[in-house]
Amino acid sequence: MSICSKDHGIAAGHGNLLVSFRSVIALLFVTAPIALQADSLEVAVSANRIEDIPLLKLDKNSFPVVDNFAWRAFIALNWPSLTDVNNRGAADPTKMLGEPGPRVWETFKTRYELFPVGSDGNPVAPQPWNTYGAVNPCGAGINAGEKTIASFEAFMDFNQTIAPGVPVNPLVAQNHTYTRYETHVNEIGYTTLGRFSLGENMPDQNNPLHMPAGAIAVKAAWRVLTEADTAAIRARYYIVENANIVDTDKTLATRGVVCSKRDIALVGLHMVIRTPHRPQGIWSSFEHIDNVPPAGSGEAREPDARDADAPYSYFDASKPKPTTSIWPKLGSPDALAVNLDNPPNKNPTPMQVTRQYPINSSTMEVNRAYWALPEIKTTVWKNYMLVANQWPTFTRIVDPSNDGIYYPDARGENLVNTTMETYVQASPSSCMSCHRAFNESGRDFVGMLGSFR
Ligand code: HEC
Repeated sequence: MSICSKDHGIAAGHGNLLVSFRSVIALLFVTAPIALQADSLEVAVSANRIEDIPLLKLDKNSFPVVDNFAWRAFIALNWPSLTDVNNRGAADPTKMLGEPGPRVWETFKTRYELFPVGSDGNPVAPQPWNTYGAVNPCGAGINAGEKTIASFEAFMDFNQTIAPGVPVNPLVAQNHTYTRYETHVNEIGYTTLGRFSLGENMPDQNNPLHMPAGAIAVKAAWRVLTEADTAAIRARYYIVENANIVDTDKTLATRGVVCSKRDIALVGLHMVIRTPHRPQGIWSSFEHIDNVPPAGSGEAREPDARDADAPYSYFDASKPKPTTSIWPKLGSPDALAVNLDNPPNKNPTPMQVTRQYPINSSTMEVNRAYWALPEIKTTVWKNYMLVANQWPTFTRIVDPSNDGIYYPDARGENLVNTTMETYVQASPSSCMSCHRAFNESGRDFVGMLGSFR
């Protein structure tokens, strides 16, 4: 039995990865059924992700297994989606990864469809899954099938968050634009969380929420493109053209959300996937490789945009590195959350961002293995890297007092995304440094319940 039999092209030229995969296999054979482990290590460019990770050792050798799960999920969720209303969230089996069109996760329900607001400003019930008819924050004329990044409360989608419902700080790119954030949930997630759309009967410690296996939540960060983004730069990104996004000037003029059409580029993607064996979810995060300069060295060195003659999205190489992970630092005026009372600048000063901790070297090894696959290397997806994974090791009983004992926690590694947790990279920082608290309050690690709309 060898994983090579299920191997899709990773063998040639990628001996190192194979060696580490093999050593993982050797360790796992002690306790695990062979078929399950072989599946977990199958490197493939496929619209089908790996369903679960049933068994794992609690040591660094488990990284490649979880990293592989994350890459397979990233590929499956970024597969071109069917676009008719009856197939929301379903991959188009006739298309290849590199073909245009909305991605599977983009046809999941958006946050504004999950927590809709009526014309009187009050919460209303969500619509059935197979619809695109929800009220759009950009206005009644725009249907939910059109790419929209906006919130009903003006400018909330410009902010990063630390605690549920508490927007804390924006992120300005080198091209003087505010980064925009959005969240999507798949059908199981939508049905489960939709029970709370009216803002009533929220789960708490006595009535805790249980997200079922199969639920998926995705949070994405987008950079708005300007004339500074040449054709060569644009070619490096997954881009959505003519997306409806909040127009700062018009929104400030009317004090109501007004949108305009702009091209936007994907710079960060968080994914949380609940599985039967990992009910607290497998937490993974991907970033565009041009966001910031590399932090690692040797085997852990991330790609450097400068090697491709491309600019960093969030770092100016002609200026000094900030002493914290970002300038302006947390708490300074330009780093405060933007809203109608503390409005975004019309021409904001770019921020200077670094990655504080390098990515785990074995994660970089898996990144390189995927980038080398023919079906990845010819697409924009070769410019995205896995930066972090967290997974629960103690998965039962699932309740507010069982945080899953996440691995690998508090190891001083970069377990954050430079586009989404830019300001809070200092160790110990990880998905769980925030989301654990949401479980303690009975919300099964979910952050956006009872939040802004
Ligand atoms: C600094 C605190 C913090 C860290 C670190 C953090 N998150 Fe979150 N996250 C939040 C908050 C707060 C929300 C909800 C924001 C809101 O809408 O009010 C959230 C929302 C999300 C969502 C949307 C679904 C939900 O739970 O609301 C996903 C997906 C997500 N985070 C994934 C991740 C992943 C993956 C990581 C680690 C790589 C991570 N987060 C790290 C604070 C954090």
